Amino acid sequence: MTASHPPYRVLCLSGSLRRDSWNRRLLRAAAAHAPATLSLQLYEGLGQVPLFDEDLERTGPKGLAGVDALRSAVAAADGLLIATPEYNHSLPGVLKNALDWLSLDSPQGEVLDRKPVAITGASTGPWGTRLAQTALRQVLHACGALVMPAPTLFVASAASRFEDDGMLADEALAASLHRMTIALERWIAQLRPDTQEARLVCG
Ligand code: FNR
Repeated sequence: MTASHPPYRVLCLSGSLRRDSWNRRLLRAAAAHAPATLSLQLYEGLGQVPLFDEDLERTGPKGLAGVDALRSAVAAADGLLIATPEYNHSLPGVLKNALDWLSLDSPQGEVLDRKPVAITGASTGPWGTRLAQTALRQVLHACGALVMPAPTLFVASAASRFEDDGMLADEALAASLHRMTIALERWIAQLRPDTQEARLVCG
């Protein structure tokens, strides 16, 4: 099938800053298995986002370079794909901290408001981040993001799914990532303002 639009830009956020993180590997694998109608880019600057402090807002853009860069990247993206680990039955502080910054109005606007988002997550344990993803969904909902309801993807026993070099070694997971990214492409397409306007015009 030929794409009828330029690839949608999807910004990928990993809730883990760890270099060999399974969640980073999962996002790289998602990029490799996504349809040509999506362009996935892993955001590498989450570690430069300071701890949330409303006073920092007032010190100007100089004090907020890490936040500014993240806001601009999110604003420029057609959608987000977030992969979260699970820490103590919830999402990691790194991710919650970034989302708290993104939830504020800013020179780039309310960048999460009506932003199409898909979520997934990998953990070394047997439950595959079910609790973390549930908590993440709730936070994104509070921020006004539009979280794709299905398909869900909980990656358990993450260490057994990748080769030593970080490449995906699990055909079933590759197929799940393909299905999820196709669904994300449709989710973005159906939520785009031009699609919504066309629906209103057509009744
Ligand atoms: C964990 N881990 C974990 N796993 C899980 O399934 N439920 C949990 O509640 C927790 N809690 C937890 C707390 C802390 C402080 C750490 C460091 C780890 C395991 C965790 O999900 C696993 O190490 C992931 O592989 C971490 O993600 P990355 O860094 O590999 O992407």
